[in-house]
Amino acid sequence: MNVKINNSDYEKELYEIIKLYFPDFQVANKSQDLDIVFENKGKSFQIKINEKTFEYKLNLFKEKNNQKTALYLALSEYCNKKFDWGTITGVRPTKLAYEMLQNGTPKYLLKENLIKEYHLSPNKAQLLKEVIENQNCIIKNDNIIDIFINIPICPSRCKYCSFISAEFVKVKDYIPNYIDCLIKEINCVKKIIKEKNYIVRSIYIGGGTPTILSCYELEMILSELNYPSIEFTVEAGRPETITKEKLDILKKYNVNRICINPQTFCDKTLKLINRNHTINDVIKAYSLALNYGFKINIDLIAGLPGENFSKFKKSLNTTIEMAPNNITIHTLALKRGSLFTNNLILNNQNLNSINIIEKDIKKMIDYAYDKLKSSDYFPYYLYKQKNTPLGLENVGYTQKNDACIFNINSIEDTSSVLACGAHAISKRIFTFENRIERIANVKFINEYINRIDEMIERKIELFK
Ligand SMILES: C[S@@+](CC[C@H](N)C(=O)[O-])C[C@H]1O[C@@H](n2cnc3c(N)ncnc32)[C@H](O)[C@@H]1O
Ligand code: SF4
Repeated sequence: MNVKINNSDYEKELYEIIKLYFPDFQVANKSQDLDIVFENKGKSFQIKINEKTFEYKLNLFKEKNNQKTALYLALSEYCNKKFDWGTITGVRPTKLAYEMLQNGTPKYLLKENLIKEYHLSPNKAQLLKEVIENQNCIIKNDNIIDIFINIPICPSRCKYCSFISAEFVKVKDYIPNYIDCLIKEINCVKKIIKEKNYIVRSIYIGGGTPTILSCYELEMILSELNYPSIEFTVEAGRPETITKEKLDILKKYNVNRICINPQTFCDKTLKLINRNHTINDVIKAYSLALNYGFKINIDLIAGLPGENFSKFKKSLNTTIEMAPNNITIHTLALKRGSLFTNNLILNNQNLNSINIIEKDIKKMIDYAYDKLKSSDYFPYYLYKQKNTPLGLENVGYTQKNDACIFNINSIEDTSSVLACGAHAISKRIFTFENRIERIANVKFINEYINRIDEMIERKIELFK
């Protein structure tokens, strides 16, 4: 593919539009037989795609949108294809909706203006509006803090996953040192909280799979986190790591939310994606957890290899029958660094060859919205990942009044986060200056252990 972009400050954003139309180029850098020339002519835009020429005059609110929209319109005419998210290619569409409201768009015109400015489908504009309405439970405040602890260790590596998370067998000898360092960092966090008089709103132990740790190791970490927060979550994602003894410990230290994540209710797919558990393990772990009164979240992924619409429908319907407090629907993202994508590139294959049924994925996501809403679940947080088929989204749905505040904060940046552990990202919000600063700890467990003092100093500096 030859792409030439003339006279634009938004080259990266324009490439995002092109990638939307050519997923194999997007995921595996596979070349396409195509020449694209984008020309910003000041008051109009000319786009040549192979032998065809398109011209547009646009007058949208942002110049960036004028350019993205011109290219989007040309490609949609050339390929005869439109996308539900229109020209929105970024990770956080809700931010654009909030921005519109701040710039004076009245609430009753939000949907209409989103459609006009970003070529959103009416369904996605409605979804954005609802998500924002359901985020009313959260306030922006400089005195509030969320705590995040990262346990980037898993029983096995799921083939779609690109998170920095190591297989247990490869890092088990590092775990005692890792926990010592975590506790050192947590102690620094406690000092910062005390000095700044922060109110701890929520605590989230995520990963990875925190419940891969032994009861003793879990207790070491939990006993350090003695705050009266309204929300205390532990991601117990992999059901095979959940035991009665571990749930007893979570309860003892006031954890009030857990995640149990089947991803699918098809054993064949679970094997294919390298999750070494069965549906039966999910049901057993879920039934056990119900005895403790935790709020429970269940994650599903739409578009897993080999899964057609009816498989996804079965997974979702089963999940709804189980009636967890939260259900999060992800669209499969084919990320660099995942085993699926690495194999694709290595073997010079395209998406069809790993049996990803793109045409069904939109149906899955639309069905999830309709079915969950008619089952009294409300969409309450939303983000988009790069490299998803058709640019589709991830949405967290909740039963009434059960929204997970930490999840909203991770997308909407309503309060600062003190994060500990390898690859944990702390952020400090300066509400009045409308500014956010972030620092990330080093990625790998051994590196984190070796550089723990530096991680602590950087955190102190950020919260000085
Ligand atoms: C940070 S992961 C941790 C959850 C936990 N380790 C587990 O797998 O059960 C959170 C969720 O992101 C989703 N996820 C991870 N990688 C994904 C991908 N490439 N595409 C779509 N969803 C993905 C999965 O649903 C997963 O449960
Ligand atoms: S999806 Fe979850 S369990 Fe699987 S490798 Fe990624 S973080 Fe680990």
